[in-house]
Amino acid sequence: MTVIIKNLTFKNPLLLASGTFGLGDKFLGVINKMGGIITKGITIEERLGNPIPRIFETPSGILNSVGLENPGIKKFKTTILPKLTKLQTNLFINIAGSSVDEFTILATELDVPEIAGLEINLSCPNIKNSQRLPAQNPRLVAKIVAAVRKKTSKFLIAKLTANFIDPLITAQAAVDNGADAISLINTLYGIAFDVKTRKPILGGITGGLSGPAIKPFALYCIWHIRQKLDVPIIGGGGIMTANDVKEFLLAGAQLVAIGSGNLVDPFLGLKILKELEE
Ligand SMILES: Cc1cc2nc3c(=O)[nH]c(=O)nc-3n(C[C@H](O)[C@H](O)[C@H](O)COP(=O)(O)O)c2cc1C
Repeated sequence: MTVIIKNLTFKNPLLLASGTFGLGDKFLGVINKMGGIITKGITIEERLGNPIPRIFETPSGILNSVGLENPGIKKFKTTILPKLTKLQTNLFINIAGSSVDEFTILATELDVPEIAGLEINLSCPNIKNSQRLPAQNPRLVAKIVAAVRKKTSKFLIAKLTANFIDPLITAQAAVDNGADAISLINTLYGIAFDVKTRKPILGGITGGLSGPAIKPFALYCIWHIRQKLDVPIIGGGGIMTANDVKEFLLAGAQLVAIGSGNLVDPFLGLKILKELEE
């Protein structure tokens, strides 16, 4: 089941998706068996995240408005990264800047031997002076990927969105500017209301929808890009079983990322791996 992309070897196609398996310092028995782990998004400054409630379960997936809670790059490097040197798998750090300069700083800070690569989170709604996601703007995708590429020789993954844009356009922009792989889909926009209070349920008002509800759309996006682009794709969205993984590989992904499924069962990655091996 080994997958080789550029200079990296993945012992199997399974990755743990950003934001759903912490910072890589817990559950090492699961992490080390996977092809890799992508950490929670890291920002320049520490972030406490959005007001609670941050997670709401829908009938077929979850809505989250965690809001990039993380220790910030300095604390991450001094307290978490040293613990990750012994990981026996590929470690990717998901970086979330609020400007091109911030992405550049994060990439420079993380050009360290412990990590296999970076996942550029272009689908987080926190770019300065904009209500839009960077991944909804092909020109911004091009600028950020090119700026990060200049600062690192590490494996670069561009994490795109399928929210209100054809991701084929932004995938092309990412590839043209030096991304080694693209990753999608991130969560889809969502909102839920409490009919008694007549108010939105999430503290952040809107959230990101993930889980089985988004799987057919995620598969479509990967298939759609695969028809036109010859780029390594990390596919994900609602993976809960080995069959789901096979579907993503059939749609055209080389690797897959298990996300919300980890929140239901932190050992899901091991279970899926066992099923794939049988
Ligand atoms: C609670 C939660 C936190 C997330 N945090 C991040 C994040 O920090 N950076 C990122 O790029 N994606 C983040 N994601 C998106 C996931 O990595 C994944 O792309 C998305 O949830 C779709 O996959 P799934 O349906 O398997 O969960 C988060 C998802 C969830 C559910």
